[in-house]
Amino acid sequence: QAQEKIPEVEELLSKMTLEEKIGQLNLLTPGGGVATGSVVSEDVEAKIKAGNVGGVFGVSSPEKVRQAQEIAVKSSRLGIPLLIGSDIIHGYKTTFPIPLGLSSSWDLELIKESAQIAAKEATADGINWNFSPMVDIARDPRWGRIAEGAGEDPYYGSQVAKAMVQGYQGENLTQPNTMMSTVKHMALYGAAEAGRDYNSVDMSRLKMFNEYLPPYKAVVDAGVGSVMTSFNDIDGIPASGNKWLLTDLLREKWGFDGFVVSDYTSVNEMIAHGMGDLQAVSALAINAGLDMDMVGEGFLTTLKKSVDEGKVSEEQITKAARRILEAKHKLGLLEDPYLYSDESRPEKDILTEENKKFARKAATRSFVFLKKHENTLPLAKNSNIALIGPLADNKNNMLGTWAPTGDPSLSIPILQGFKNVAPNATIKYAKGANISNDSTFAKKVNVFGERISISDKSSDALLQEALDVANASDIIVAVVGEATEMSGEAASRTDITIPDSQKKLIRELVNTGKPVVLVLMSGRPLDISEEMNLPVSILQIWHPGIEAGNAVADVIFGDYNPSGKLTATWPRSVGQIPIYYGVKTTGRPGPESGDFQKFKTNYLDSPNTPLLPFGYGLSYTSFEYSDVKVSSKEMSASASIEISATVTNTGNYDGEEVVQLYIHDKVRSITPPVKELKGFQKITLKKGESKTVTFTVTAEDLKFYNSQLEYVFEPGEFEFFIAGSSDAEFAGSFTLKK
Ligand code: IFM
Repeated sequence: QAQEKIPEVEELLSKMTLEEKIGQLNLLTPGGGVATGSVVSEDVEAKIKAGNVGGVFGVSSPEKVRQAQEIAVKSSRLGIPLLIGSDIIHGYKTTFPIPLGLSSSWDLELIKESAQIAAKEATADGINWNFSPMVDIARDPRWGRIAEGAGEDPYYGSQVAKAMVQGYQGENLTQPNTMMSTVKHMALYGAAEAGRDYNSVDMSRLKMFNEYLPPYKAVVDAGVGSVMTSFNDIDGIPASGNKWLLTDLLREKWGFDGFVVSDYTSVNEMIAHGMGDLQAVSALAINAGLDMDMVGEGFLTTLKKSVDEGKVSEEQITKAARRILEAKHKLGLLEDPYLYSDESRPEKDILTEENKKFARKAATRSFVFLKKHENTLPLAKNSNIALIGPLADNKNNMLGTWAPTGDPSLSIPILQGFKNVAPNATIKYAKGANISNDSTFAKKVNVFGERISISDKSSDALLQEALDVANASDIIVAVVGEATEMSGEAASRTDITIPDSQKKLIRELVNTGKPVVLVLMSGRPLDISEEMNLPVSILQIWHPGIEAGNAVADVIFGDYNPSGKLTATWPRSVGQIPIYYGVKTTGRPGPESGDFQKFKTNYLDSPNTPLLPFGYGLSYTSFEYSDVKVSSKEMSASASIEISATVTNTGNYDGEEVVQLYIHDKVRSITPPVKELKGFQKITLKKGESKTVTFTVTAEDLKFYNSQLEYVFEPGEFEFFIAGSSDAEFAGSFTLKK
């Protein structure tokens, strides 16, 4: 639909030459910081002066941003200020847990606050436009970028995505402590074949609309300012040149009124996709509805020619330039180009004690207690502890992937955190093993600094040191798992187990006969089938961010009782991937017993069930669910029903529980998933306390896209359960009447 035109923008447009309009569509990065792509831009200053640049990224600090804006405002003909972009994925300088970890908190207020704080810090440093959130549904833990999202579920992923956009953008984008958010990567990037980054995607429209597109749509509805395209193709056309995606769906069907930016050189990469030369792919992209070209300069160098040759209309370019100018207007930049260049802000707003306190809290909420063994946890604060492992005293791996603005040297290692929180404990440390012994692998992982350092000592010597320390202690805490750059972009793995060097260490530690706690760090679900069978407790901590050590100690010593739940399924082996809870039954459902049956959907060598299901996570206490019921067995389309359960804390600690509602549509016109999350509430229960948790369900909650891609509900019977994980049994049903 026609948007209301903004007079300042229209006035500018009326003065602009075609070249100047094309200039607004050009996004450059002068480099200098951590590279986020394979090339950096050249002659950026000269191009800004010539009116050839609409925005830059990789530039920060009020002084540098002021300089950049001054060049644009004072030296280009029309003096149009720049968008200043950045990737602020999980905190700016105060780094929070990786997004997959944050999502495991199931705490939308906390997630929103993390985005608010990130916006406050980043805007204090001059940034006004953020390339976050990443909302790609991911069901393949081989894909390293699963670390950057909220996991596998369309409903939960949509809630997290909205919370983040609201946190970044606030109520009013002209406030200098808010920034424009970009939802990425549109679309389906998380479904790259075989989990290999940048790979092709091929998916039915039904799966897209019901399972993969909802989070993008949710943030468009929530008013996200910009959309970034993905690297993959969709129905054979790369996203950056896909008109169906960028115009028919995004703008015409969903009513998106912001601007679309490509990913890093993704326009140029359409040449390698087989779509033609640079002029052809640039024309394809602008005609498809892409507004801004990141780094590749295909727009800058070819669009004028395409207009002259009649391959692109000037109107199409004007539309795109208008959207970029409108974004600048929304941010208040047209009125005040120096809105984000307040030199007094960094000291007041960045890395404050308050922000670090929040980072510590957020990290504790992100941890998932995966395995409880003999109530080893929590530890007494005067314990005699062997703290072992290559990640136990390691600053370089605490922040996790995509923290280019964070400083690893400021992070608190686990050893330091233990000393801070339990000064009366006896803590002896040994590295015990290298993260990996494979130097070729280490070299690939160490692109942004030494994440895997291979000790000069032999593996045997490292192990012996660990065993000596272990034998002199009463309890062993082993911090093991993945280095930061073992997940994230271009960090796919075909083997998602803990590296062999560390597996061996774990076995040897268990053989000492002392109680063992594994503190497990990773950016993805791992295959820990072997470790789950050992007599150990396991606490999953993802990459916890700047306050890592303090947060881990808070949980290990019981100052906070873990409450996180998995937002992506953990497989028994890579052979089960893709794996997620919301599967279809198929016409030959797998046997309930888990025993193999010929001519059923199952494996000869593995159960169908995952190692750890979506929604799963333990606590130091225990919770019991009872009295799961529905307010009425029948529901009309215009009314609602209430489904409730009583949850009781039956253990010995106060705790928090994520109460989850799942529904199963028994019969419908397209095959239904076996269960779908439809609601959740995180509640606090004191020891012995009970609470009734109620969910209101309306027909709107029962909608899905049918084979005509209409968003409908269909009358019939629905089963439901309320539980603390996705793997519970159905507890009742209701009927939606015609
Ligand atoms: O925002 C990122 C994107 O997620 C991956 N490619 C580079 C972009 C800009 O840094």
